[in-house]
Amino acid sequence: MPYTVCAFAGSLRSRSYNRALLRAAVEESPDDLTIKPFDLRDIPLYNGDVEAEGDPEPVQALKNSIHEADGLLIVTPEYNASIAAVTKNAVDWASRPPKPTALDGKPVALAGATPSRLSTARAQAHLRVSLSNTNALVMPQPQFYVGSAGDLFDDDLNLTDAGTLKVLRRFLAGFAQWIERVG
Ligand SMILES: Cc1cc2nc3c(=O)[nH]c(=O)nc-3n(C[C@H](O)[C@H](O)[C@H](O)COP(=O)(O)O)c2cc1C
Repeated sequence: MPYTVCAFAGSLRSRSYNRALLRAAVEESPDDLTIKPFDLRDIPLYNGDVEAEGDPEPVQALKNSIHEADGLLIVTPEYNASIAAVTKNAVDWASRPPKPTALDGKPVALAGATPSRLSTARAQAHLRVSLSNTNALVMPQPQFYVGSAGDLFDDDLNLTDAGTLKVLRRFLAGFAQWIERVG
């Protein structure tokens, strides 16, 4: 302690609930955890031909940010009952050589927001399976799902729901403990 955490949200839209949730996580993080958001806007679609010529600069930056951090926080939308492509694409790049990869042995926490009541349970479950292939150490508990997001953020996309803020703080404190345990 203290720990630094690289974090990305798997949505590119400006009024994204997941980007807003990540901003809330930055603001609510405990004193021993510094969350550094990484913007996925410039990460290209994975292409083995491009990779063979050397990682594009944004991909190098992503890999470096994860390598340098003690943990990784992934905030993902759910699309068609699974992982949003922007999230999965970032995970796929990060899982690639040189070895050890950025995800190998990295403590990871998952979160996600959706306007629906289902939260992002299916996306996160699929992401857990995918990350197990990368040797990342995904925190089993506490888990964090934000459903009915339209009711929890104000017009400026500040997370204002007291109950959700409380659960978010507990989740982040749990992640600091998880990093201490396995990092
Ligand atoms: C292609 C597509 C598929 C979607 N599928 C789901 C879904 O399976 N479950 C869900 O809760 N929301 C689904 N949604 C709604 C998203 O949760 C919603 O658009 C959300 O706001 C996206 O995250 P963002 O606000 O961070 O951009 C879908 C949206 C899109 C565009």
